[in-house]
Amino acid sequence: MARDQWGTRMGFILAAIGSAVGLGNIWRFPYVAASNGGGAFIFPYFFAILTAGIPILILEFTIGHKFRGGAPVALGRMNKKWEFLGWFQSAVAFFITVYYVAIVSWAISYIGFAATKAWGTDTAAFFFDYIGLSDGPWSLGGVQIGILIPFLVIWAIAYFILSKGIKRGIEKANRILIPTLVALMAVIVVRGITLPGAIDGFNYLFTPQWDKILDPKVWVAAYGQIFFSLSIAFAIMMAYSSYLPKKTDLVNSAFITAFSNHGFELFAAIGVFSVLGYMAQAQGVPVAEVASAGVGLAFIVFPQAISAMPALQGLVGAIFFTTLVFAGFTSFISIIEAFTTGIIDKFGITRQKALNLCMGSAFIVSLVFVTGAGLHILDIVDYFINNFGIVIGGVVEVILIGWFFNTEELRQHANKYSDFTIGKWWIFMIKFVTPVVLGYMVIQNIIENIKAPYGGYAVSAVLVMGWGVIATCVILAIVFYNMKGDYSPMLQTDKEVD
Ligand code: PHE
Repeated sequence: MARDQWGTRMGFILAAIGSAVGLGNIWRFPYVAASNGGGAFIFPYFFAILTAGIPILILEFTIGHKFRGGAPVALGRMNKKWEFLGWFQSAVAFFITVYYVAIVSWAISYIGFAATKAWGTDTAAFFFDYIGLSDGPWSLGGVQIGILIPFLVIWAIAYFILSKGIKRGIEKANRILIPTLVALMAVIVVRGITLPGAIDGFNYLFTPQWDKILDPKVWVAAYGQIFFSLSIAFAIMMAYSSYLPKKTDLVNSAFITAFSNHGFELFAAIGVFSVLGYMAQAQGVPVAEVASAGVGLAFIVFPQAISAMPALQGLVGAIFFTTLVFAGFTSFISIIEAFTTGIIDKFGITRQKALNLCMGSAFIVSLVFVTGAGLHILDIVDYFINNFGIVIGGVVEVILIGWFFNTEELRQHANKYSDFTIGKWWIFMIKFVTPVVLGYMVIQNIIENIKAPYGGYAVSAVLVMGWGVIATCVILAIVFYNMKGDYSPMLQTDKEVD
């Protein structure tokens, strides 16, 4: 059976951008930047992009392309034992999938709420009521019907698109959704910058706090943002690039993907902070007081800001939540594809069968996030997946490949069809710079979490839902690694993959 393939390189790049541009760009980056040096954050961030983001993106594109497989099989073809790492990264992807879908579902509901400003004046109370927030991670409460409906819709659409395959499904969806997303975000930005007070938001976001630049925390934040933002080290980019035709410019594709992602990030930050500046002015408080990130920013602060707007609140609100849905949805399908490709490649089963298995099991697990405890559990799982799952998967990846594989061979493969080529600096990044920075991050994170359980939750909850999820990733990796597969371990040279 012939392997599916992207129709055009543009289609692949759009899909890679679709994966990279996600909720993280809209609700995480602006806040991380503002609270880590503002305008001065650009330097550590740019540095992190050049030393870790782009080098690892090139690495993953190259591995997926050269070894023709999702993370487990591609890494397994480099060294049989490394298949384990591929499964670990795939398991991380599985856990992101199951909570990410809940957030996208909330955003869908909020498109409707925006139209009538259903959230009233107490947007926090409205949100907690909508998700049926329980007292803590251990009290599940019931399934929330209001979330369940968009949730089922989003799973169904994703299933439909992914069933159609790479070219007719994923590529087509991204071709429509990504340009639309950019256009809608432009509306938000224009609305934002024409509001009074926008300038205060910019000042808050962009004024460089030079003293922060020497703070190691700021650098760690910069590197931490890169991985999630570029969708690297959790199996996605290897899966996507495994469907590329042989003659593809990999280096250029990686640069375009990265710069588009970060460009959009900056664009979104301008939109978000101009709105926050306006809101701060309207309430007569400093911007710092209304600045926030994540769930709080999107579902509590933004609704407030939207209600305070001079006109067309319903429309602007609906557009804002649509940007969240589109950005989230294109990331959602990429992450399902990440572990589905792993299963298809290892076991040689059809896409449809693999989708039924993968999406079926993810669907069942994700139901937890539709209960009243959803937000609590999401908060814990998300924190551990980001600070441990992704970073550990990344550090092991660069150490194994940097030190135990012929990186020169990979460099040449990356350069083969590329307009501009990468020099030895690339190897230096993979071998030395990224392992040191990531290693430092993992150690820092471990120390911090031993000192105090995350977020003030019950220790039992952090153990089970935080460390437990990471342990489950390891167990899943052991199980899948040891299962008998049906793929040729030998497919190693370009000739053989023609
Ligand atoms: N890059 C994505 C983002 O910014 C991260 C992600 C990818 C999350 C795929 C979920 C699925 O949101």
